[in-house]
Amino acid sequence: MLSTASVAARAPCGIGASRRQQRGAAARGRRQFCLVRAAKGDVLLEIHDLQAKVAATGKQILKGVTLTVREGEVHAIMGKNGSGKSTLSKVLVGHPDYEVTGGSAAYKGVDLFELEPEQRSHMGLFLSFQSPVEIPGVSNIDFLRIATNARRKAAGEKELDPLEFYAHVMPKLEALNMDPAFLNRNVNEGFSGGEKKRNEILQLACLEADMAILDEIDSGLDIDALRDVSKAVNGLKSQQQDMGILMVTHYKRLLDYIRPDYVHIMQEGRIVTTGDMGLVDKLEESGYSVLSSSA
Ligand SMILES: Nc1ncnc2c1ncn2[C@@H]1O[C@H](COP(=O)(O)OP(=O)(O)O)[C@@H](O)[C@H]1O
Ligand SMILES: [Mg+2]
Repeated sequence: MLSTASVAARAPCGIGASRRQQRGAAARGRRQFCLVRAAKGDVLLEIHDLQAKVAATGKQILKGVTLTVREGEVHAIMGKNGSGKSTLSKVLVGHPDYEVTGGSAAYKGVDLFELEPEQRSHMGLFLSFQSPVEIPGVSNIDFLRIATNARRKAAGEKELDPLEFYAHVMPKLEALNMDPAFLNRNVNEGFSGGEKKRNEILQLACLEADMAILDEIDSGLDIDALRDVSKAVNGLKSQQQDMGILMVTHYKRLLDYIRPDYVHIMQEGRIVTTGDMGLVDKLEESGYSVLSSSA
């Protein structure tokens, strides 16, 4: 495992460090909190020939995924159910159900698989789950504040007390058109599908992640909720223009709101085709079968 200190050693403070990191490090004078940060337009996430299997059964799911996301880019991954999209998302954040069997993935120049899941999160990698979990007994606002403070602490920033956090979260809640009552409910408990998805984006907004992986954020959303969630993601993106986004979706309607720079099609654990929105139109017309015969 790579410690935070050794990650920091690869990026001297002030050189390639984000404003957040520079501010925090200067304030606390603690060099070990300077995490690696790519310069604008630099590669954020570089996945090469990634292979992974289900740890429990040994079933090989990812069979060589290659993909590069630069700062500020939006990538969409489409593909049939069972092609490995969620597995790829979960492997990147370190889900314990999967074992990496080959290839590589670097985030901000650091080998992702040498980092613990929480270190990946502290470095600004975020995954919104396709099926967000319910956490009974934990209030949403406490959860959001603890997660936000964990990232701030790792970056050497001042942690937010409950009042400060309230001021931090309220505008984000408003942007998502979410009722403040959601803050006092238990995390996702009794939330509708759409409410859970909004809550995922609320987490992303609070954490101010640098690389967001959004797994089917449109599933379970009605058209109004889809518009609100997309608006919130676009709003975040305009505030954090360097944020990279990798979004998994089945539907063009999400991509009409959050326009991707690249569209990838995944099949049987590999990306078989890459294009732009034109590829989505082709898919809408002909379905995946035509693509596989022309890929
Ligand atoms: N934890 C797991 N245990 C067993 N099989 C799994 C697990 N995760 C994924 N799979 C299998 O891997 C394949 C790909 O799943 P997934 O990545 O969820 O696909 P997608 O998101 O593209 O629909 C499916 O056949 C699925 O059943
Ligand atoms: Mg999936």
